[in-house]
Amino acid sequence: MKNLRPICFLVFFSYVQCQTLQRSLLAAAWNHTNSQNYLQENLRDITSIMVAQFLQKSTYQEVQTIVEELVHRAEKCKVLKPQESPSECSHQLMTTFLEHVCNNQGMADKQEFSDCCNINNKARLKCFLLYKKDDTEYSDVFQIPNLEQICDVDKENQASVKERYIYETSRKHPFLYGPTILTMSACYETAIRSCCQEENKTECFQIKLEPIRKYVREISLRHHHLCEIGIKFNHKVSKAVELVLLTKKQPKANFSEIAKLAGDVKNLHQTCCEGDVVACVLGRSQLMNDTCSKQSALSSKITPCCALSVPFRGECIINSENDDKPDLSSLPLSRFTEDRFVCKQFIDKQDDLLPEFLYEYSRRHSELALSVILRVYTVYQNLLGKCCKLENPLECYSHGKEMFQRVVGESHERIKNHCDLREKLGDANFHDRLIILYTKKVPQLSAQELVTFTKNMAAAATKCCPLRDEQRFVCMEDSGSKLIEKCQSLLGHK
Ligand SMILES: *[C@@H]1O[C@H](CO)[C@@H](O)[C@H](O)[C@H]1NC(C)=O
Ligand SMILES: *[C@@H]1O[C@H](CO)[C@@H](O)[C@H](O)[C@H]1NC(C)=O
Ligand SMILES: *[C@@H]1O[C@H](CO)[C@@H](O)[C@H](O)[C@H]1NC(C)=O
Ligand SMILES: *[C@@H]1O[C@H](CO)[C@@H](O)[C@H](O)[C@H]1NC(C)=O
Repeated sequence: MKNLRPICFLVFFSYVQCQTLQRSLLAAAWNHTNSQNYLQENLRDITSIMVAQFLQKSTYQEVQTIVEELVHRAEKCKVLKPQESPSECSHQLMTTFLEHVCNNQGMADKQEFSDCCNINNKARLKCFLLYKKDDTEYSDVFQIPNLEQICDVDKENQASVKERYIYETSRKHPFLYGPTILTMSACYETAIRSCCQEENKTECFQIKLEPIRKYVREISLRHHHLCEIGIKFNHKVSKAVELVLLTKKQPKANFSEIAKLAGDVKNLHQTCCEGDVVACVLGRSQLMNDTCSKQSALSSKITPCCALSVPFRGECIINSENDDKPDLSSLPLSRFTEDRFVCKQFIDKQDDLLPEFLYEYSRRHSELALSVILRVYTVYQNLLGKCCKLENPLECYSHGKEMFQRVVGESHERIKNHCDLREKLGDANFHDRLIILYTKKVPQLSAQELVTFTKNMAAAATKCCPLRDEQRFVCMEDSGSKLIEKCQSLLGHK
């Protein structure tokens, strides 16, 4: 297969210290009412996000001009009512936008997109998507040129501070999902307003804006990676990733609930990754509505989130803590490795058996990183693939349990080695060593990816290595670098 350059590393960051973020969510949510016409009222902002994420080089004014034009021309979005299909609106908005870029001679970014403009429909959008650039090295110290000034601006024109924030954030983070940008813009605006009334504004800005900035940076990376998984791996892998993440969060929910949710979330990611901000905003608010309507079956931790209005619900649920582990002693995992009917299921209904294993394993091991769980999953899949061809398969796959433990043990071992190495070399030399190490291990990475990756890894080591054993493991798996996956093992689904 040519052109196969799968991401062989997935970097997952933990969600920011939720408490600080949740505080700013609550502060901002306080003044928002639950609006039925959320989409319509925010259409301008939503369109700005879409435009700025595609036309990253355009100025604020240029983006505003295009947004005016689009909102004016998108007939289908004007009559939008809650019960009507909004997909026509999103489709029209997107098509109109792409046409607008392609038909406008003087447009700043047009040159760049000329090859995309020669093709049509779905292919055109795909082509535009390829031009999005997420510069992870971009220093995103948010430009607050003069704090007094921002407070004056706010008095004169309440909206412009928020709109500028939306513009800057969208162009800097072209893969960050629209609903998140909307939420964070509300948090930002609330923070600015409250700081402008403070005596010491500088201090207030530092305290209130830092968590917002940090969250945006981390979640943007995460969204970008989810998009890459969606593009570079098949849909089974994306779904497996969602299944693990959801199960860790909601270990009490039953398999059918989790499996359905995983499918929905995967589809939503796809929509959001395609840059269709209207559909992404709508899809997410529907998903969150669904989630809240079933909260008792899903998780006990999301109740306070479900009381919030639309723009805040989603972010709050995503950042809620994992639910407590249920008592699973009566349902031993051994049915996957000791039951004589495993091969029959594997052969007849593989698509039921494997996700169910993944679910049962994840809910028992919420302390393990996604990467480790996926590796265990791949080991199990390969094991059955091999054993079920044999005369006595049970004898063969009954070694599964030890094999899973070995995978977990190896990942402990790797972390221990890293920490030992760091202690020996010191932080600066440790980073250099990591670069050398991983240049050999994953030659597929570009120089920039490699530096970013090893930097994250070194940062995680600095933070986590001083902790004790088990805490250290969780911290490493959870906070910084996540994993280097051998391409084949993640692509095991073919
Ligand atoms: C919230 O709304 C009230 C009344 O609508 C207004 O007086 C107050 O300033 C608002 N608070 C914030 C933080 O925006
Ligand atoms: C504002 O707070 C910062 C940080 O705490 C401090 O360094 C500065 O002196 C304070 N400024 C005023 C005018 O109080
Ligand atoms: C959530 O879904 C229910 C049932 O589908 C619907 O009646 C309700 O209006 C929705 N709520 C919101 C806020 O969209
Ligand atoms: C899963 O949970 C839901 C909600 O509690 C319930 O309606 C459904 O019957 C359960 N499914 C299974 C297979 O137990």
